[in-house]
Amino acid sequence: MQILDGRALSLKIKNKAKEDIKILREKGITPGLAVVIIGDDPASHTYVRMKEKACEEVGIYSILHKMPADISQDKIIETIEMMNKNPNIDGILIQLPLPSHIDTRKILQTVIAAKDVDGFHPFNVGKLSLKLDTFTPCTPLGVMRLLEEYKIDPKGLDTCIVGASDIVGKPMMNLLLNADATVDICHIHTKSLKEHTKRADLLIVGVGKPDLITEDMVKDGAIIIDIGINRLESGKLIGDVSYEEVAPKCSFITPVPGGVGPMTIAMLLENTIKATRNRL
Ligand code: GUN
Repeated sequence: MQILDGRALSLKIKNKAKEDIKILREKGITPGLAVVIIGDDPASHTYVRMKEKACEEVGIYSILHKMPADISQDKIIETIEMMNKNPNIDGILIQLPLPSHIDTRKILQTVIAAKDVDGFHPFNVGKLSLKLDTFTPCTPLGVMRLLEEYKIDPKGLDTCIVGASDIVGKPMMNLLLNADATVDICHIHTKSLKEHTKRADLLIVGVGKPDLITEDMVKDGAIIIDIGINRLESGKLIGDVSYEEVAPKCSFITPVPGGVGPMTIAMLLENTIKATRNRL
């Protein structure tokens, strides 16, 4: 069994980003990222702090718009429209989830496609499904980069994705299809999850349920990607896969923390640099 070390790869990617940004800055160009966070969900605030810290480390200028949970939808739209026009901002990220009175789809469509570094705008979602160059959502893109680093080619593999969200499962499906894998996608209404997961050469799980995937649900020698990040009452972080029992059965597995999480942030940095280059 080999660990897919997302932390190590993310450091390599960050170092490359730092070099790329140094060259841009020497030409007087500084990549800029605006982050919008609404409400006071502690996990979202932690993620946003990590994103800001990563920007600072590599030399991306970042600004944070913190808004209260009861803010009006019109006020959020007004802020995004201002950033759409701001020439110092190349990328705009709206941290999800948004409070329940806000129409998330409407907000995500307000970010212009050229600054959509999360790849959530319908225009970019469509381009991904057509295998055109676009902004790809950071978590599934990070998974693909991790597989590539360990020379795992999804072509022809039986893959199973557990979780069909717009931000992880669905773009992951498109990326794997674009890479010629056979893709099976499971969700809350799937009748027998185990029948699907057990067949997979490559199993990717991102639903936010600790210990959802147990040893009996995994094929011998499978590659396991755990996207879940769950904080236990003790403060310990665990994924959706029962790591201790599943790890001995597989050929490769991502740890939590230190697997997909750091890759998400590394891909955000790359997407921001891409937005800057597109502007030039
Ligand atoms: N919330 C959880 N994951 C993500 C992500 O990748 N991007 C944004 N914007 N919000 C998230």
